[in-house]
Amino acid sequence: MATAARSARIDRVLRPVHRWVWRDGGRRVRKLLAFAEVETDGGRDILRAAEVTPDPLLRRLYLAHAIDELHHGVLFRERGTELLRARSEPASTLFNGNPLPGGHGLDDVSIEGEADTRLLAFLHVAEKAAAGRFAIYRDLVADDPPTRAIFEEILRDEVFHMNYTYTQLARISPRAYRRQVWLARAARLWKRVLRLAAALGALMGAAFLTLLYFVLLPPFAWLARRTGKREPSGWAPISARPDAPPTSQY
Ligand SMILES: [Fe+2]
Ligand SMILES: [Fe+2]
Repeated sequence: MATAARSARIDRVLRPVHRWVWRDGGRRVRKLLAFAEVETDGGRDILRAAEVTPDPLLRRLYLAHAIDELHHGVLFRERGTELLRARSEPASTLFNGNPLPGGHGLDDVSIEGEADTRLLAFLHVAEKAAAGRFAIYRDLVADDPPTRAIFEEILRDEVFHMNYTYTQLARISPRAYRRQVWLARAARLWKRVLRLAAALGALMGAAFLTLLYFVLLPPFAWLARRTGKREPSGWAPISARPDAPPTSQY
């Protein structure tokens, strides 16, 4: 619970960044289209989970869940495309990326060889995070009623997903369900740390190379210019070499 409260607090702290992302029309479109991909991929993965689970009740619930996620993908894609068509000005390329992770995190899901307990714990954590984020996004797109209505609709589904995964996890693993949720949160946090470290590494690499460029290049440029001044300009006669073969160009 402490981890969930912390992530909700982080999202509250990051609210100005979320606002900055959603304020710009181009970033809004990109965000919606990125969500469409994540929801559709997540829906496909959960569909696969419905195929492989031995539990008949879970199969039905996974199937309903997958249909919801695929539907979310369609809603986001249609709205993103609509906004894209309506945009008259060209998208600015500066700061057009999404500095924050997507709403769902379902792109991290892996189905093959995964026990239902671990999968349900993972889904519960991902759906809870999605519900929290989509509630923030819904408030931030108040100027855009159709997009707000989509978030409103999707949010209701995410809350259902969050609740059924927890109830089913408690049913199939009554003794260890809390531990499973804790482990899923820890794994999610660890993946975040790794992603952040990779992004930071890339940033530091770029900064270091830029620094090298400005520190190392000027002395070489200065040396080259100084040497160039000593060289005679234009064509220069070369001394005849008696041992040179007649076919040599020198
Ligand atoms: Fe969803
Ligand atoms: Fe969901």
